[in-house]
Amino acid sequence: MNKTVYVAMSADLLHPGHLNIIAEARELGEVVVGLLTDEAIASYKRLPYLTYEQRKVVIENIVGVSRVIPQETLDYVPNLQALRPDYVVHGDDWKTGVQRETRARVLAALREWDGQLVEPEYTSGLSSTRLNQAVQEVGTTPQIRLRRLRRLLAVRPLVRLIEAHSGLSGLIAENLSVEQDGVPKTFDGVWGSSLTDSTARGKPDIECVDLTSRLHTLNDILEVTTKPIIYDGDTGGIPEHFVFMVRTLERLGVSAVIVEDKVGLKRNSLFGTDVEQSQDSIQGFSRKLSMGKQAQVTDDFMIIARIESLILKKGVEDALERARGYIDAGADGVMIHSKEPNPKEILDFCDRYGGLEGRVPLVAVPSSYSQVREKELKDAGVRIVIYANHLLRAAYPAMMRVAELILRHGRAREADDLCLSVKEIIRLIPA
Ligand code: SPV
Ligand code: MG
Repeated sequence: MNKTVYVAMSADLLHPGHLNIIAEARELGEVVVGLLTDEAIASYKRLPYLTYEQRKVVIENIVGVSRVIPQETLDYVPNLQALRPDYVVHGDDWKTGVQRETRARVLAALREWDGQLVEPEYTSGLSSTRLNQAVQEVGTTPQIRLRRLRRLLAVRPLVRLIEAHSGLSGLIAENLSVEQDGVPKTFDGVWGSSLTDSTARGKPDIECVDLTSRLHTLNDILEVTTKPIIYDGDTGGIPEHFVFMVRTLERLGVSAVIVEDKVGLKRNSLFGTDVEQSQDSIQGFSRKLSMGKQAQVTDDFMIIARIESLILKKGVEDALERARGYIDAGADGVMIHSKEPNPKEILDFCDRYGGLEGRVPLVAVPSSYSQVREKELKDAGVRIVIYANHLLRAAYPAMMRVAELILRHGRAREADDLCLSVKEIIRLIPA
């Protein structure tokens, strides 16, 4: 009887190393490829460039592949138990590093039916990481970037964004990665904050930096990043103007706009009730949302309704009523904001929101209640977390300190240790 050979792969950036594995597997019997689903891949690294269906079409057409089945977890065991293959084939590079544990589980499973693990030598000189870098250098298109937020929401329990207010801060959002338990952790996208964009220009956050000026910053960020962007649309202006904002952002490849339910002179939410701020009626804001929805061209662009009830001390009940109304008006997401020093009212809202019909993804912005952990927000049903102002808040005190030292000492030497070296700054952005 023909032997069954199981090969698991992501097959996003396919290279001769993959073909080598399939060729070796084919010598042993009939090759079944366990193709990792988008969800399985996103659980330990970036979202694949190609969707599952696109990757499936490619891999199905490779000589030597008999069948492609989905592998829904990083763990092979559920598929192995269903299939009981005679062989599993994988490059020998997984003996160390992140995949060691996965390998051990494969070996244990195979022992149950005397299956064998075959590990051809890893094809050196080919690095997926390098290929990935090369793809990033090529960049992205507006359509691909735009769709990426919805794709992320479909596979990740919590999507993590950080503010950028310049090309340089955009690069941090794009490239920073820290390793935790062998798994790389990154930001999933960029928040185009009105507060930091205005502040970086030395202007107050009152919509006096108009859309045209904000587009300059947005363009700087778009030029050096590929990750999805959520744009802070403030109040969106009057509905007749908001439709143009929607069209412009969508054309540029921005994934979503968040508009807040305030009218008149908008002040930053973190002032709370210290300043005069008025909330729109549910009916008035719903009209703005539905006009925006009608204006967009693709199905992918998202309009997220931001509820200011907690900021204005109107309570959770008012916020929920608004959530209901805005969802009915077509909102693709709801952002609930708070300036309390703890997450209590946010978690209260989340709890109540969980019982709502027709729920859309919930967004939280833990600036004042920064002690809250992502896990708590995720468990409460939040789908997008935004670190809304941190890069600029970090930069300003550092700049002040250095400027002060120069003034005090009449020279720059004392500030040197607080600065990037000249050697580093000239190489920070490669030509
Ligand atoms: C922003 O980042 O501009 C926001 C969030 O709108 S907040 O500043 O908290 O209002
Ligand atoms: Mg804002």
